[in-house]
Formats: sequence, C-alpha cells, structure tokens
Amino acid sequence: MQPMADGSDWLSTLLERASGSPRSLTLGELESLLLLEGRDDLDMLYAAAHALKVRCCGQGVAVRGLVEAGNVCAKDCFYCGIRKSNAAVERYSLSADEIVAAAEEAKRLDYASLVIQSGEIESEAHTRFIEDVLRRLAPLDLGITLSLGEQTEDVYARWREAGATRYLLRIETSDPELYAALHPAECSWKRRVECLRALRRTGYQVGTGVMCALPGQTMRSLARDVMFYGEMDVDMIGMGPYIPHPDTPLAAKSPDMAAADRLELGLKMIAVSRLYLHDVNIAAATALQALADDGRERGVLAGANVLMPNVTDVRWRKAYRLYANKPCLNENASLCRHCLDRRLDAIGEHLIYGERGDSRHYFARS
Ligand code: 5AD
Ligand code: FES
Repeated sequence: MQPMADGSDWLSTLLERASGSPRSLTLGELESLLLLEGRDDLDMLYAAAHALKVRCCGQGVAVRGLVEAGNVCAKDCFYCGIRKSNAAVERYSLSADEIVAAAEEAKRLDYASLVIQSGEIESEAHTRFIEDVLRRLAPLDLGITLSLGEQTEDVYARWREAGATRYLLRIETSDPELYAALHPAECSWKRRVECLRALRRTGYQVGTGVMCALPGQTMRSLARDVMFYGEMDVDMIGMGPYIPHPDTPLAAKSPDMAAADRLELGLKMIAVSRLYLHDVNIAAATALQALADDGRERGVLAGANVLMPNVTDVRWRKAYRLYANKPCLNENASLCRHCLDRRLDAIGEHLIYGERGDSRHYFARS
C-alpha cells in the first residue's frame, strides 16, 4: 500500500519493478497508480512510461492516416454520437473511389499505414464492398488496420485475405455489468470478447481498448481493464476518455467532470498500460486532443507510440462526430501533418515516415 510519508520512494520502487518486466504489477498496484494525484508523482509516472516506450518501441511515433469511411451504424450505444437513433446526424458512406483517394493522400504524405473506421454494419454487400476496397488498396502497399466492429469469423478471414493485417475492436469496458449499462440489451459483451478471439485466430494484429471517465466506472474497474489487455494478450491499444455528446442518452446521466480531469485519466491509462504491457502499440486517441490542444503530445509523453491523423476529406469530418468538440474539423491532411510535425518537435519527438509501424508484440509472439 502507498505509505503516507514518503510516497515517491514507494513510487520509484514500483515504477522500477514495472519497467523491469511486463505484467509484474498486481491489480491493487495498477489501481494505486491510477489513483495518483500529486503533480510530481504524475510526472514521475509519465516519465517512466515514456522512457519504457522508447526502450520497447524505439524513438519516434508511428503514424497512420485515419479514414472515417462512413457513419451509418446499426448499433445504438448510449454514449456514441453516430448511434442509429440520433436523427440529427447527416449520414454518409464514402465510395470506394473516395476511400482510395484518401489512401493515396496518406501515401503522398509518406504515411505507410492506414486505418479504415466506420459505423458497424453486418451485411454481405458491406463485406464485399470492403473486400473490393482492400483489393484496390493493395498496389499502395500500406499497412491496413480495420475498425469496422463486430463481424463473423468468416468475414474477418475474408478481409484478412483481401489484405488487412490489423483490426481494432474496443471492448469499451472489461466489466460486463458496466457494459450492459452503456448499451442496449441486444449488445453482448461476450460476443465482443468472442470477436477478439476470432480476430486472433484469423491472424490479425489485434487491438482493443476502453473508454475512461465513464459514469459509474471506478479505478478498480480501469485497473481490471488493463489486466484484461494482458489476459487477451493484445498487440495494440486504442483507448481514450469518454466525452459526453449532447445528442445521446448517456450525456444527461454524465456528471460534470472537468476536461482536465478526463484528460489526466486518459494519460494515466496510457502510462499504466505501457508499464504493464511493455511492447504493444498504444495510440494517443483524438479524444485527448478534444480535451486539450496539446492532448495527443501529452499522450506520447505518457507512453503512447502511435498517432492517427485524419485523412478523410474535410467535408465529411463534421458528420463523423462520436463526441463533442471533435478537433481538426477544417484542417486537411497536409495541414494536420505539418501541425503534428511541429507539435512533436516541440516535445523532442518525431513522426516516423515511410514505415508501417507494426506491433512488436505481435512479432515477438509469433
Ligand atoms: N466519447 C469518447 N469516445 C467515444 N467513442 C464513442 N463515443 C464516444 C464518446 N462519447 C469511442 C468508442 C468507440 C470508438 C470508435 O469511439 O470507444 O469504440
Ligand atoms: Fe490537425 Fe493539428 S493535427 S490541425
């Protein structure tokens, strides 16, 4: 337990042990790191996680161009701005040509990887559409991550076959009860876990993640989330603070929480996940930037090693709004690249161009 008198001795011993070998923290220790509050202690935590990122993932930050391919969604998650019941959203789906154009833009900017994300749709037509897009992207020779929600193992295998090598599916929370409070009854936490297992069997680099600062969530629950990443042996993590969206049912039930506190919790989760898992890829989510202008850079300084600047045509950015205050609504892809270069330079970091930035953890396992 954390002693009252000299907390930093306790902390430096713990951080040293955590940095020495992966998965060496107990649930209670993970929780006590998430409960840290003093500025000095937090700075120590972030510095240890950032040093470990450099040791396990190398200097620099991997980059993926993010394509928001469509906001049509069959799901009705209580927190999400593009939930199917939100009639205020203008729905769009990019054509295959538009997705390929965004990928070409990413290639032109020397991003060697692409993430294709959209609302969740399960249909043969959609499966074929994505297969077709993937085949058309092959000549660009990009590392491709899909983030297209729950699908059958057969669909995952078809997309893998068509050229995708990574898949992100956030579990949202590892606590089935909290999951049930955030989703309509037809959403199954178990199915999501099964999907993660199917993705692993299919050979993807598998990513998951949670939201933090959710109403009803405890530090204990977040500590369990980090253990869940370890139990599932994931290769990549994409997680971020929950930010209420005014047109969703959860917004009314979300207690006021200062943006700075949501951000701090997001940073703590990055740092603690790095200290627990060592060589996985961890993204600094755009939600961090929605909470503070320098949110993503602070994510890197807390141990994240991946950034995903948007390469979607600016005319669609406003429609793909999962939460309030989405950043970079009017900045096109090359503006975002310059802005990121400048921001990372200011913290002594840099984007890694021309490299896919695969998860080292994946290759260490196989
Ligand atoms: N705040 C933060 N993140 C959100 N997401 C959805 N809605 C919100 C919100 N209001 C996240 C979920 C989802 C991902 C695409 O975006 O974790 O998996
Ligand atoms: Fe888009 Fe800074 S990253 S404007």
